[in-house]
Amino acid sequence: MGATGPRREQARHDTFDAVAGSGFPTAMSTTKGRGKAKGRDAEQESPSPDRLVAPAIREDDAKFDRLCRPGTLDEYIGQEKHKSNLRVFVEAARRRGEPLDHVLLCGPPGLGKTTLAFILANEMGVQVHSTSGPAIEHKGALAGQLTRLEDRDVLFIDEIHRLTATVEETLYPAIESFQLDVMMGDGPHASSIQLDLRPFTLVGATTRTGLLTSPLLSRFGYVVRLDFYPVEELLQIVRRSATLMHIEIDQGGATAIAQRSRGTPRVANRLLRRVSDFALVLGDGKVNAQIAREACERLGIDDGGLDEMDRRLLTIIVEAYEGGPVGLDTLAAAMAEPRDTIEDVYEPFLLQQGYLGRTPRGRIATRKAYEHLGIRRPEGKGGTTPQETLF
Ligand code: ADE
Repeated sequence: MGATGPRREQARHDTFDAVAGSGFPTAMSTTKGRGKAKGRDAEQESPSPDRLVAPAIREDDAKFDRLCRPGTLDEYIGQEKHKSNLRVFVEAARRRGEPLDHVLLCGPPGLGKTTLAFILANEMGVQVHSTSGPAIEHKGALAGQLTRLEDRDVLFIDEIHRLTATVEETLYPAIESFQLDVMMGDGPHASSIQLDLRPFTLVGATTRTGLLTSPLLSRFGYVVRLDFYPVEELLQIVRRSATLMHIEIDQGGATAIAQRSRGTPRVANRLLRRVSDFALVLGDGKVNAQIAREACERLGIDDGGLDEMDRRLLTIIVEAYEGGPVGLDTLAAAMAEPRDTIEDVYEPFLLQQGYLGRTPRGRIATRKAYEHLGIRRPEGKGGTTPQETLF
C-alpha cells in the first residue's frame, strides 16, 4: 500500500525562518532549501535568555540567521572532514536516485546541526520537515509526519534523544524499511496493517549522544560529531557574516570577536551584531580590535569568551567547594539552573578549554580556572589539570 497520508499542507517559502529564533511548530514544518517554517523552536530555549554567549537560539537571532545562514556545503565554513564526506554521500545518493542515508548530527548547541540538516536537504534538492523529540508526543504524531514525506525528503528531528520509547520503536521500521505499523481498531478486533512510506532520510540531532539508545544509534548510516570551531574558522565566519550584513570590520576586529566566541558560530554572529552596535554609536561604524574588545568587556565577556555565568560556575566550585570535586546536582542547585543546562550548555566549553575537570566524584576547577579567576590555588590541590582528571 502506498502512503496515503495528507498531502503537503504547507507552501514552499523562500526565506529561512525555520531554523532561526522563532523556530519550529509543535507538529512539523516543511521547507525546501532555504524554506520557511513557523512555530515552536525545535532547539531548547536558552536557559538564561539574557546571556549573550548562550549557545542556544534566541529570539533576536532569527533575522540574522535568515540572512547569514549558509545554504550549501560550499558556503559552510569548517568541519572539513565531515563536509567532504557528506559531499560524497549526497552525490552518490543523487546519482542512484535514492535518499541520502540517515544522518545523526551530534554536538553542543550553536555549532550548526540545524544548518547542516537544511544544507543536506538543499543539496539533495528535497524538502526538509523539521520537528523535535519532545514535539512528537505520541505514535500518531509521528505517523502524521512520516506519511507527509515525499520521495527522498529529509525528516529533521532535533533533540532526538528526547523521543519517548514508544515513538522511538515506531520509528525503527520506518527508517529501516520505510514501513509504518498502524493499529486499526482496538480490543479483540484490533489488527495491524503496514503502510509503505516514501523513501526518506532521517536527520537526527542531539546534544547528548550518550542518551541515545543503541538500537537508534545503530540505524544511522553516518554520524557527524561537531567540534567547537578553531579561532581561524570563526574568523572566516565573522568576516562572511559581516559582509552579508554590510558591517565594516578589519582583521583585528574580526579576530577579537572570534577569540571571544567560545568556539561557537552562533555566538560569534551574535557578538558581531552587538559589537557593531557599539561601533555605530560610539565610533565611526567600523569594527576594529579596540572597539570589539571594549564592547565585549562592557558586555561582561572576558578575553577567553567566558561570561558572568561561566565565571560564577567556576567561582562556586573554587570558593564554596574548595575547588571540588562537587556533584553535578549540588552544582546545579548552587547555580539555580537545571542539571541538564549545566551539562549541555555551560560545561562543554569549560571542559574543552580545560577550565573544568570531570572526575568520578564530581566537577573540579583546574589550575587554569584558578589562574583565570585570579584566585590563588591552595597547595596540595593535585589532580586538577584536565589530563590528570580524565577518567
Ligand atoms: N554561520 C553559522 N555557522 C556557519 C558556518 N559554519 N559557516 C558559515 N557561516 C556560518
